Amino acid sequence: PIIIAHRGASGERPEHTLASYELAIEQGADFIEPDLVLTKDGVLVARHENEISETTDVADHPEFASRKATKTIDGKAVSGWFTEDFTLAELKTLRAKERLPQLRGTAHDGQYEVPTFAEILDLLARVNTRRAHPVGVYPETKHPTYFVSIGLPHEGPLLAILDQYGYRGRAAPVFIQSFEVANLKAIRAKSNLPLIQLMDGEGGPADDAKQSYAAMTTPAGLKAVAAYADGIGPNKTMIIPRGALGTLGDPTHLVRDAHAAGLKVHPWTFRRENYFLPLDDKGGLNPAGHGDLAAEIDMYLKTGIDGLFSDNPREAVPAVQAGAKR
Ligand code: G3P
Ligand code: CA
Repeated sequence: PIIIAHRGASGERPEHTLASYELAIEQGADFIEPDLVLTKDGVLVARHENEISETTDVADHPEFASRKATKTIDGKAVSGWFTEDFTLAELKTLRAKERLPQLRGTAHDGQYEVPTFAEILDLLARVNTRRAHPVGVYPETKHPTYFVSIGLPHEGPLLAILDQYGYRGRAAPVFIQSFEVANLKAIRAKSNLPLIQLMDGEGGPADDAKQSYAAMTTPAGLKAVAAYADGIGPNKTMIIPRGALGTLGDPTHLVRDAHAAGLKVHPWTFRRENYFLPLDDKGGLNPAGHGDLAAEIDMYLKTGIDGLFSDNPREAVPAVQAGAKR
């Protein structure tokens, strides 16, 4: 199974920074995961959402105070500062900060820029010249329908830059992922790069009000996904649900059914803090303390998953390697 460094080694560095991706590569991750949004001048940059006040110091920049806005994103009102209202040069004056300071501290706040996707691919090109097995990239299009609606679609720049950096064909070390459907189908029409349909435990794709993720996980739904994608990226609770007390329950049939449809399965997100771990794997009462992430991962490996997203490659890499030896 592959280990995808979720937003980089985001358990140890502010998410979506070159430092976070570099640390993940040092720790042995197979892929690094940038979530992608666009700037006003059409540049792909790594942020989990286009509203950037939770992960940058934008609110501390008086010169940008007037850019604060309220917008409707995927049907919800969101207030703050948005990447599409900043040129890349302006965005580069900001510095990243930790999204979860109560759990992960603030020691690295203020040190790192918001990286462009090109800078991330440059980093991979540099490290991969020294490696027999290249580290791959696992980009996610964030809010693709919204970005189309403001005239800044992901698809063209994403495919162009991947091609420019040599990511071509089904064996390329890349997976393109999305919670939405139409953009994956549009990419499939133009490219044979591997695609992953993300799914959450509730709701459905923001671009199709009639569709639910629950329906997409039925055998018929998975067969439909397999017509345009190579795998699914489900919330991990769709594979092993949590009981009322936070214990791991019995696995569902999702991995088996997805494999029967010819789809890979890469669940998210595996994190070492007690706050996130199942009850049996917590290492005490402090939510920021670290529990037994390897034990949780072990339970998932037994279901036959093909990979996983983790904020903590430091723990996830040896856990998966140990599981592979058994
Ligand atoms: O892309 C897999 C996982 O990252 C999905 O959740 O919200 O962290 O992007 P999110
Ligand atoms: Ca993601």
